[in-house]
Amino acid sequence: MAGRKETIARLREDGRAGDIAPASLDSAVQAQAQADRVHRPVLLEQCVRLAQPALTRPGAIGVDGTLGLAGHSRELLRRIPGFHLVGIDRDGEALALAAKRLEPYKDRVRLVRSAFNDFDTVLDGLGIDRVDMVLLDLGLSSLQIDEKDRGFAYSADAPLDMRMDDRQELTAADLLARLDADRLCRIFSDYGQERYARRIARAIVAEREQSPIVTTAQLSRLVDRVVPRKGRPAGNPAKRVFQALRIAVNGELDQLSGVLPQILGRLNVGGRILVESYHSLEDRIVKSFFTLGTRVTDVPQGLPVLPEQMRPYLADLTHGAVKADQAELEHNPRSASVRLRAVELIRPVPDHAQADLRRWLTAHTQDLDAVRAPASARRARRAQFAGRRH
Ligand SMILES: C[S@@+](CC[C@H](N)C(=O)[O-])C[C@H]1O[C@@H](n2cnc3c(N)ncnc32)[C@H](O)[C@@H]1O
Repeated sequence: MAGRKETIARLREDGRAGDIAPASLDSAVQAQAQADRVHRPVLLEQCVRLAQPALTRPGAIGVDGTLGLAGHSRELLRRIPGFHLVGIDRDGEALALAAKRLEPYKDRVRLVRSAFNDFDTVLDGLGIDRVDMVLLDLGLSSLQIDEKDRGFAYSADAPLDMRMDDRQELTAADLLARLDADRLCRIFSDYGQERYARRIARAIVAEREQSPIVTTAQLSRLVDRVVPRKGRPAGNPAKRVFQALRIAVNGELDQLSGVLPQILGRLNVGGRILVESYHSLEDRIVKSFFTLGTRVTDVPQGLPVLPEQMRPYLADLTHGAVKADQAELEHNPRSASVRLRAVELIRPVPDHAQADLRRWLTAHTQDLDAVRAPASARRARRAQFAGRRH
């Protein structure tokens, strides 16, 4: 393995990774060593098998919208010659490491630091009209979880940050400082299914009047104090609150519901969408979106033959959700909660389905995320989507 100095030098030379901050190079070096040692992409074999048929046509383009440490992408590039990859991540450090890991395939790879919800803008910027496969492996990378100073883990004391993209201003500490008890309560209960959401929200509001809550240890202690000991579910009592805050800080559900219609609008017929979710809120969004295209609805009774325009436009490739098997669970703890769903676009999205897609997008835009994205930005995204047709 390369020494620290050499690795720093190579990371600095790496122009493709975009604007990685020099300050994060030290941890990037450690992370690179760690990534090679411990990173195991979840459901890798299944993802490769599902993506392969879409990526073998000449000129095929695949998008990894959650590049992370490029575990999935590296294997796709290694096993499927010819296709080109667009790798997106909003974490600059992950992107720099991914660039190193994808070095052998650099002629087939373009990396972009962006949120995946800017899907259309990213493809427009690269001059790409349509793509053949999109993979989303949601949530945090092992790098983000393991870097204690990013504040994702309740087990280590660190600033309450939780931003996947350090260019974003809003942190978890900001949310705790700014939101009223009702909104905090909704975050904890909607995104964390936290039974004591209201009590915890009130305690936060009371505590911050004495002193601001700015570290993970402060928040963990507060939750520990407020949640009754009797009948506590197993595990750390702050787990659900941390999950909820992370989802809110990064606008994770809005990102997901915002990107799915954009992907559909950019997919070639025969193209495939693969999504790996790690909690039920994400999986529910994916399932309900895919169902719009896999189900036959509104068929007048007594029709002998289903008219072309009423046929499904998506084929369900996974027949529900795929979970990790015992062998994977044993060597890869991250796989415990994964649900993989995949669909194929089997014909152009019919015109009459556009209204359903617009309604779906409106219904799945979280108003809690108004804290993060101004309504004007969300309206603009919806308008952008409404303007695209197959
Ligand atoms: C679970 S990791 C992906 C791991 C990757 N599949 C691998 O095998 O190395 C998820 C990555 O997606 C990124 N991410 C999550 N949400 C994102 C979003 N809305 N836009 C862009 N990147 C996102 C995170 O920063 C993280 O690096």
